[in-house]
Amino acid sequence: MTHLISDIEVLPAQDNENCKVIHISKENQTGQMRKLYIESYGCQMNFSDSEIVASILVKDGFDTTSDISKADVIFLNTCSIREKAEQTIRDRLIHIKGFKKLKPDLLVGVLGCMAERLKSKLLEEEKIVDLVAGPDAYRDLPNLIALVDGGDKAVNTFLSKEETYADVSPVRLNSNGITAFISIMRGCDNMCSFCVVPFTRGRERSRDPYSIVAEARDLFEKGFREVTLLGQNVDSYKWSEIENNKARLEKKGVNNIISFASLLEMVANINADLRVRFSTSHPKDISDDVLHTMAKYENICKYVHLPVQSGNSRILNLMNRGYTREWYLERVARIREILGNACGISSDMIAGFCTETEAEHQDTLSLMELVEYDYSYMFTYSERPGTLAEKKYADDISLEVKKIRLEEIIKMQRELSAKRYKLDLGTTQRVLIEGPSKKNENQLQGRTSANRVAVFPKENKMKGEYVNVLIEACTSGTLIGKIVN
Ligand code: SAH
Ligand code: SF4
Ligand code: F3S
Repeated sequence: MTHLISDIEVLPAQDNENCKVIHISKENQTGQMRKLYIESYGCQMNFSDSEIVASILVKDGFDTTSDISKADVIFLNTCSIREKAEQTIRDRLIHIKGFKKLKPDLLVGVLGCMAERLKSKLLEEEKIVDLVAGPDAYRDLPNLIALVDGGDKAVNTFLSKEETYADVSPVRLNSNGITAFISIMRGCDNMCSFCVVPFTRGRERSRDPYSIVAEARDLFEKGFREVTLLGQNVDSYKWSEIENNKARLEKKGVNNIISFASLLEMVANINADLRVRFSTSHPKDISDDVLHTMAKYENICKYVHLPVQSGNSRILNLMNRGYTREWYLERVARIREILGNACGISSDMIAGFCTETEAEHQDTLSLMELVEYDYSYMFTYSERPGTLAEKKYADDISLEVKKIRLEEIIKMQRELSAKRYKLDLGTTQRVLIEGPSKKNENQLQGRTSANRVAVFPKENKMKGEYVNVLIEACTSGTLIGKIVN
């Protein structure tokens, strides 16, 4: 999955006191501005971080390009979540060697989770790499580039307890101009035993809610109509006015703790025409307050991504997920009770975690059937160095068995998706138009509140508008309909 910079729009950036910018050569040998090319891998957080990186470097005088062959600086913003994700980067670096042969002063940097996990070891293992920067070190990129310009290799993998880049206005990359992502927190404190994220992203910290609302409002004023609030566990979002801004607290005399439910409400109140989504919810933390807030506001989309990972309580315990099968099913029942059956629910699944028996795998399938997920992201377990599972449990399920189990999970999900999409047949759905359909330029596409993709003849409508669509047919991944009044 790559993400190229194109059609960039520079949003006003506030002055940033913490940013130690030293001035470096902004021109290449042909006297033009140096061009940055960046590719992102992994989760949406990384894609959002690339927008922060672009913002920091554009402010520092760099130009950007979506053409790798024109780049003076190539950054790969990397993911470590599974072994395969890291292998993809190593393969990509081999390919990039070709560019460096043609342009010896090309600077190659590795950012993100793999940078954080491997630190300076990455420089030893991958000779082509000049610069390594972890997710909390992006303000330092101008300095790191200057070090490389001076003939050194540069590494900064310092993890911060405070950094949220709250004041950096992201340069929106590859944007459709309608939907955008906003990071509301960073890091993760959960320590699920299979997961590398707490090591690559550091401690959990929440971003100033007023900076989040300001970013969302600014997007709305620029024509955006949907924001997705991002965090590894949005339900543990917490901002204390007492700790962070006593002056503001005294001035407003309000709420001293802002929870995720209150943040959702603040963003929903910006404008009824601004849709609000969020990801990821954690089954152990998702509160009734959040569900009631979703019910209260039409513009908060009726869709919850609630990764279960496994349907068996013994495995969930080994995974250190903090809930049981019964707890999870109770949370799903509450979603259905408060938001109705139409609310979309999706999940992540891991097949073949350490010691998982066939019967325990069957529990995952039966749970899927009970919940009736709209969609799932499904993976075979990949042991990650340094995690609790790697230290404590044997990765004892053969790849062959993992793959068979994964296939069964995928097959189950396919059936469930088809069933869920059929539910919308004959109903009228409010759809936010995101642009032309990928397959037919006479058709438009957008999503329903429950996050299902709908396509329909375009008539005289344009992206960014809301339309009512009567659903007349469907596949297991698309609703097909026509605009009605
Ligand atoms: N914070 C989110 C997950 C982020 S990682 C949550 O807690 O739900 C995205 C997904 O990758 C996880 O939900 C999990 O299903 C998968 N994943 C994480 N580590 C993995 C591993 N070691 N092997 C296979 N899949 C993994
Ligand atoms: Fe990883 Fe668990 Fe944190 Fe999600 S909640 S990022 S799976 S440690
Ligand atoms: Fe990957 Fe890091 Fe996201 S490991 S999934 S890019 S937080």
